[in-house]
Amino acid sequence: PPSGTPTAGAAASVDDGAEGRIPLQIVFGSQTGTAELLSEQAETLARTHGFDPVRCDLDALDITALSAVRRLLVITSTYGEGDMPDNGELFWRALAAPDTPRLDGLYYGVLALGDSIYDGFCQAGKNIDTRLAELGATRVVDRVDCDVDYEDPADAWIARAIPALAAVDAGPPPNQVAADEATDAEVDAPEPPALPATPAKPSSGARRVRSTWTRKNPYPATVVANTLLSDPRSDKEVRHLEISLGDSGIEYQPGDGISISPVNDADLVGRIIERLGVSPDTLITDRKAERTLRDTLTHHVEISTPSKYLVDYIAQRSQDAELVHLTSTGDREALDAWLWGKDVLDLLDVDPALTVTPEELLAELRPLQHRVYSISSSPVAHAGTVHITMATVRYRSGDRQRGGVCSTFLADRRPEGTQVDMFISANKSFRLPADDTKIIMVGPGTGIAPFRSFLHERAARGARGGNWLFFGDRHRDHDHIYADEIDGFVTDGLLDRLDLAFSRDQEHKIYVQDRMREQGADLFAWLSQGAHVYVCGDATRMAHDVDVALHDIIAEHGGMSAESAQDYVDDLKRAKRYLRDVY
Ligand code: 2AM
Repeated sequence: PPSGTPTAGAAASVDDGAEGRIPLQIVFGSQTGTAELLSEQAETLARTHGFDPVRCDLDALDITALSAVRRLLVITSTYGEGDMPDNGELFWRALAAPDTPRLDGLYYGVLALGDSIYDGFCQAGKNIDTRLAELGATRVVDRVDCDVDYEDPADAWIARAIPALAAVDAGPPPNQVAADEATDAEVDAPEPPALPATPAKPSSGARRVRSTWTRKNPYPATVVANTLLSDPRSDKEVRHLEISLGDSGIEYQPGDGISISPVNDADLVGRIIERLGVSPDTLITDRKAERTLRDTLTHHVEISTPSKYLVDYIAQRSQDAELVHLTSTGDREALDAWLWGKDVLDLLDVDPALTVTPEELLAELRPLQHRVYSISSSPVAHAGTVHITMATVRYRSGDRQRGGVCSTFLADRRPEGTQVDMFISANKSFRLPADDTKIIMVGPGTGIAPFRSFLHERAARGARGGNWLFFGDRHRDHDHIYADEIDGFVTDGLLDRLDLAFSRDQEHKIYVQDRMREQGADLFAWLSQGAHVYVCGDATRMAHDVDVALHDIIAEHGGMSAESAQDYVDDLKRAKRYLRDVY
């Protein structure tokens, strides 16, 4: 692996506390960087409690070495409908295997992150927690399942977990892999220092690792460009936005995301208030703050996607036969199909006779979330600005025109000169490798965003590693976004290979993975030369099909069985050479 990338397992496995400090293993499973950030926070706090923490991602933790670990903190997000995050799949496969060694001497805690809108809420953390206990490990702090408002519960959990692990006595390692100096370090470890009578505020020291501009304290940035990228004739609307970082001091890396706090559509807010039959200026106390109803619905709660709580609430209160049936059968698919395109107003209108007070409604709504976009600019080439490449979500449902909360906010209501509340969502695993390493980028549609960043960055840095881009969309004439820039990169020699897949320009569909297969021999040659593979864009179909294609290409051109190809891909993942930013 390139310099700076830990070799699998090396960073992680053995308890070897330095200078008599207490060894502690911290692992994170992160899809968008939140769990990683929290793991850094836990690491900082652990140092102030006499620990010598070692931190790595789940996949870097070798399962056989885990039996020599005495104290373990797991902080993991969940991906999609209950899956492990990308950097935890290999770990989970090993931990879940029937022949996994027992972990009787292990003391641990799990912090799970998730989003309660999904069925598999915090499932990755729940699975790990259950499996560790099954294997005989001792839970020293109860698992906490954090919803999107994770900061406070996560801070509180870290503040409980560290002292709880410090209180675990310093016995010999649970399963001595070998009687070596690792054991000595353990035995020599002193008792943990006594905790101060009033524990230090968890957040004070720990928060320092967070940047000044956060979810709770976003930076009001100015939009300096907002233009249509796709052709007006396209059936898609793809836009290019440029946002000035002003004097915020905000820095970012290629691969990072920008989070935007949207503002709800005034028309929908107005209709909901009308439906409630009260004045927009009614004062409401919601989550400890007093605001007008209009302000609350505009800035603080999700009104486009109804929460499960609201669905259940309306089902109970309205006795609408169809909805009652759908919520009682537990047929999630049928319920989702019914919910498609429905917002909070539609739910209220399920039963026009139903009276709901503002307080009752707000109790069932989720806090308004920021939306994350992969940054498409380079901090070197486009200093002081962040570019966004965004598809505006618009559709019709019922008798109303609808749209994505944040994408229509940006497209329709944030022209040049206006402000948006933003902060950076670091994506520390999705990074460019060393300048002389080859990269293969697969990014159809707006999935091109981070690769535009990568290419500009490499051009600006004079990086000489090879670059190969697979891009596609529906029609060349309408959807070939950034065509001039990309052609420029080809002419300049920065882009060694460019393969385009326009799916609807011919009778049969052609997708990026078809182009990958066509170029399979060369693609495998690049892999053999150490290339890194990046995939960005649609998670449900594209990323899956690209993954299948990658396995097939390796099997065919590497002359391998399906199993060996799987091992090859696993090794790529472990070495951080196969990275995805998919949504
Ligand atoms: P389609 O809409 O013609 O099916 C960007 O959205 C591009 O991704 C479009 O050309 C779209 O094609 C294509 N696409 C759709 N499904 C895909 C899949 N399973 N794999 C790869 N690309 C896909």
